Amino acid sequence: MAGRGTRTASDEVRVETYDGDREELRELFTLAEDSRAALDAYLHGGVVLVAISGREVVGHLQLVGTSVDGEVELKNMAVREDRQGQGIGRRLVEAAVDRLTAERASLLLVATAAADIGNLRFYQRLGFRMRSVERDAFTPATGYPAGLRVDGIELRDRVWLDLPLARVPGHRSGA
Ligand SMILES: CC(C)(COP(=O)(O)OP(=O)(O)OC[C@H]1O[C@@H](n2cnc3c(N)ncnc32)[C@H](O)[C@@H]1OP(=O)(O)O)[C@@H](O)C(=O)NCCC(=O)NCCS
Repeated sequence: MAGRGTRTASDEVRVETYDGDREELRELFTLAEDSRAALDAYLHGGVVLVAISGREVVGHLQLVGTSVDGEVELKNMAVREDRQGQGIGRRLVEAAVDRLTAERASLLLVATAAADIGNLRFYQRLGFRMRSVERDAFTPATGYPAGLRVDGIELRDRVWLDLPLARVPGHRSGA
């Protein structure tokens, strides 16, 4: 949220639904995905929101449905490296939450690496809470190179977090 009376770097960024070629976003998606095989499998799925500054896409977020009705996964998100730490990631997640709440979704899920302390902080600052851990999710068998480390921690386990979405009174589904 923009500070009252204080302009922040994310103020001039707008968030829109992306309807262009997903390949043009591959570089951004790759910032959040170490497995080319995994990315190929989901790059073209779901809905993508983009953060636009001027005429440039500076961040994105991808939402995909799950097998449970009303539950949506935040599958991939990234902010361009030179624009990180300016509130753009927060803006993207808040836009996704607004959109999903209006659509009467009940839960937003996200998975990240247990090794990535920064991401765990980012999502918890946005209200997500820990849900479960999948041990040894990141292996060569699933397309993740052996020996990858994040902040000196071996990339091995996947953490799931979730954020319950508020009901909008009087808003009807199927509209
Ligand atoms: C994770 C990412 C999307 C966050 O976007 P961002 O625009 O940099 O984040 P914001 O500036 O909106 O930060 C929101 C809050 O999260 C915190 N945060 C964000 N990234 C953080 C990090 N790496 N370490 C610690 N805190 C972090 C910010 O400090 C801020 O906290 P505050 O509310 O106390 O000020 C971005 O850093 C990124 O693209 N990372 C590489 C790709 C990636 O890992 N994607 C996630 C895959 S699950």
